[in-house]
Amino acid sequence: MVVPDASLETLEEASIDKCTCSGVCKRKTDFDNLVEKICLALGPSSGIDSDEANCEHLINLMRRYASKESEWSKYAFVDTTRNYTRNFVDHGNGKANLLVLVWNPGKGSLIHDHADSHCIMKILKGSLVETLFDMPAPDDEARPLKHKSFTIYGENEVTYISNKIGLHKISNDDPNEIAVSLHLYTPPWREGEKTGCYCFAPTTGKKTLVNMSNYYSVHGKRN
Ligand SMILES: [Fe+2]
Repeated sequence: MVVPDASLETLEEASIDKCTCSGVCKRKTDFDNLVEKICLALGPSSGIDSDEANCEHLINLMRRYASKESEWSKYAFVDTTRNYTRNFVDHGNGKANLLVLVWNPGKGSLIHDHADSHCIMKILKGSLVETLFDMPAPDDEARPLKHKSFTIYGENEVTYISNKIGLHKISNDDPNEIAVSLHLYTPPWREGEKTGCYCFAPTTGKKTLVNMSNYYSVHGKRN
């Protein structure tokens, strides 16, 4: 069931921003609060499919967060030998994967789909380029992918994609500086099944199933 936006707001403000620890813990950061609000919006752990996700509300939550590096840097591990480094932050009550991705200068992803997940991406630092392509029809597999659009997203901007929109690749075109992004995938990838994420060859559209279950760090700790 999709809960109306207004009631979610009331619930979030009442339940998250008040600390009950009697001053023992450090105050939650806005990033901590964002993660909690996302979990609250996703609802308790009882299964979810892509039709149930209130993406508009999730996008608004991501938009309202003003990025502060000191708040998310504990998740932002970087492996300089990879194009980008995937760091796991939270599983959203089992209904999502929330990741911090660190993009090395001048590097990017392959062209990929998102299985049956919604993907919401917020830029935490720097800027990222999204190149969109049409989703090839099943009988299109020997043709070049059709380019759709090219968009640059700067710090704090948010974008959304699903297979209904098409395929994309993400790249950090800055030759010197890393970029960092926050990604929410809901429902989470179902690993080891044919419903996983595929990468696509630009000239032929040939697709290859990829394993997305490996993370460089989990909950701020190096694997
Ligand atoms: Fe993506």
